Amino acid sequence: MATANGNGVTTKPPPSSSPLRYSKYCQSNLRILVTGGAGFIGSHLVDKLMENEKNEVIVVDNFFTGSKDNLRRWIGHPRFELIRHDVTETFLAEVDRIYHLACPASPIFYKHNPVKTIKTNVIGTLNMLGLAKRVGARILLTSTSEVYGDPLEHPQTEEYWGNVNPIGVRSCYDEGKRVAETLMFDYHRQHGIEIRIARIFNTYGPRMNIDDGRVVSNFIAQALRGEPLTVQLPGTQTRSFCYVSDMVDGLIRLMEGDNIGPINIGNPGEFTMIELAETVKELINPEVTVKRVENTPDDPRQRKPDITKAKTLLGWEPKVSLRQGLPLMEEDFRQRLGLSENKVEAKV
Ligand SMILES: NC(=O)c1ccc[n+]([C@@H]2O[C@H](COP(=O)([O-])OP(=O)(O)OC[C@H]3O[C@@H](n4cnc5c(N)ncnc54)[C@H](O)[C@@H]3O)[C@@H](O)[C@H]2O)c1
Repeated sequence: MATANGNGVTTKPPPSSSPLRYSKYCQSNLRILVTGGAGFIGSHLVDKLMENEKNEVIVVDNFFTGSKDNLRRWIGHPRFELIRHDVTETFLAEVDRIYHLACPASPIFYKHNPVKTIKTNVIGTLNMLGLAKRVGARILLTSTSEVYGDPLEHPQTEEYWGNVNPIGVRSCYDEGKRVAETLMFDYHRQHGIEIRIARIFNTYGPRMNIDDGRVVSNFIAQALRGEPLTVQLPGTQTRSFCYVSDMVDGLIRLMEGDNIGPINIGNPGEFTMIELAETVKELINPEVTVKRVENTPDDPRQRKPDITKAKTLLGWEPKVSLRQGLPLMEEDFRQRLGLSENKVEAKV
């Protein structure tokens, strides 16, 4: 029987799960697949999902930007499996939920092999939707604020269609995610797949790749090493930063709620790059200097989520402020950089 979803579109009912899922040998309530689960957000999501003793978690990851180290506390756990797999190849497993995160998120890595990035977004999402269809799983895509491109509306609501360069150096990521969203909705309308789409805004926290070109990890690493904080010109461009525990909470609420999205998940507190550099300097190493450097092409001037939908539909809003969150990264970065507790002398 056909049903109408929140957009008034008629869809087929979702396929039912395989009978294997109801086998008496299936002890868990939910078997959850996390693609890209060895990465920054993915590994924090896995930590949270594993807290619930009724969840079984399977991670697939090709370790392009992720690391087994991020999941080391779970390796060998009876409710956890880690599989080296590239989502551009098909994958089969009896699962109830798919959190589809696999995709490099930092410009340095997604521009490294743009063809691979767009394949990951398009073929990878097709493969995960195929799996969702086959086993009747609900699937959540971690899309991005990059779908708004260099936005002409501020703040960005989910209704805004974006201002994206289709042929630029960032397009493999931006347009890749836009196609991934299209695929999600087409599978939903045509095959009745249960979908959820999160549009994630800049997220930060422990386990971000060091020196991956993302501004928060760059500044923290530079401050800890005593190097100048490199602010890309003009420095007045703004970003909003969401602490990773808030992000994970938002993703789980979206997955388990009734709304399919897309829903913006991010922290609306807006900072210029200069303000961010000054805050890192104050909190992490007051000795360092701030240096202006050239910017990269197509860098958006401003980004700020309108999170009205997340507040009203998911009952979600961020709890951790930037001033609370930045110091929480210090210990993790210090350990990975092999630095001692003592503040490093500034190199000018
Ligand atoms: N961190 C952010 O600020 C941010 C903002 C917007 C959207 N997102 C989205 O959230 C998701 C996670 O981002 P993150 O910051 O944790 O990035 P990340 O690079 O730390 O994690 C991505 C993970 O996906 C894996 N991966 C990449 N390509 C793969 C492939 N073809 N097959 C299997 N695994 C693959 C990587 O090895 C890594 O473990 C991404 O989809 C990203 O687009 C993140």
